[in-house]
Amino acid sequence: MAYKFPPESAPRLLDLDRAAGEELEQWWPLLTLKPGQRVLDLGTGPGFYLPYIVQSLTPGGLVVAADLSMEMLRMIDPATVLRIRIPETALPFKNATFDRVLAAHVLHEFEEPVARLREIRRVLRPDGQLWIWDWHPRHIPPPGPPTAERVDPSRALSWCTHAKLTARLVEPDPPGRYLICAIPSGGTS
Ligand SMILES: C[S@@+](CC[C@H](N)C(=O)[O-])C[C@H]1O[C@@H](n2cnc3c(N)ncnc32)[C@H](O)[C@@H]1O
Repeated sequence: MAYKFPPESAPRLLDLDRAAGEELEQWWPLLTLKPGQRVLDLGTGPGFYLPYIVQSLTPGGLVVAADLSMEMLRMIDPATVLRIRIPETALPFKNATFDRVLAAHVLHEFEEPVARLREIRRVLRPDGQLWIWDWHPRHIPPPGPPTAERVDPSRALSWCTHAKLTARLVEPDPPGRYLICAIPSGGTS
């Protein structure tokens, strides 16, 4: 069984000081979010990234906040986003639905990473992008999950390849986390 973030600790994910350590100014622009896009925040938790996504899509677009945990989803205001409880591996969306999928701090919690990534690939448009933002095993917690639960970026890239995603690694400085951009193999991004 994969490690799962305890929902009772969710308030920590909305900590006002968190934004400073997120290095958002370094990597958020890389997502090239634009008005009109459809964005899936997979493993949204209590929705830390949702205001940033909504703002980037303003004046309009579709934001879907998806998580396994109803407890997490209940913490999200449904006024601006669509909240959906999803199962561990399958995704309840049609093929080629999303322009962007954000998987922040969730890859290391997937029970079946390659199967989940295949599903993400299926729901991405041919020119869509998956952005994975996760803890580097090199970084000593806290914050973040125990080091043994973290996924090395080379392993994450290999999972992407097995899921027929073409992926590249961006390692920010300081090196606490890593960012992966993956596109459907043969895609047009
Ligand atoms: C550490 S929290 C991260 C939440 C949010 N992305 C953030 O960075 O603040 C991980 C979340 O992923 C969810 N999760 C775990 N496995 C998942 C899966 N296979 N599919 C979707 N969500 C999952 C958990 O329920 C939890 O809410």
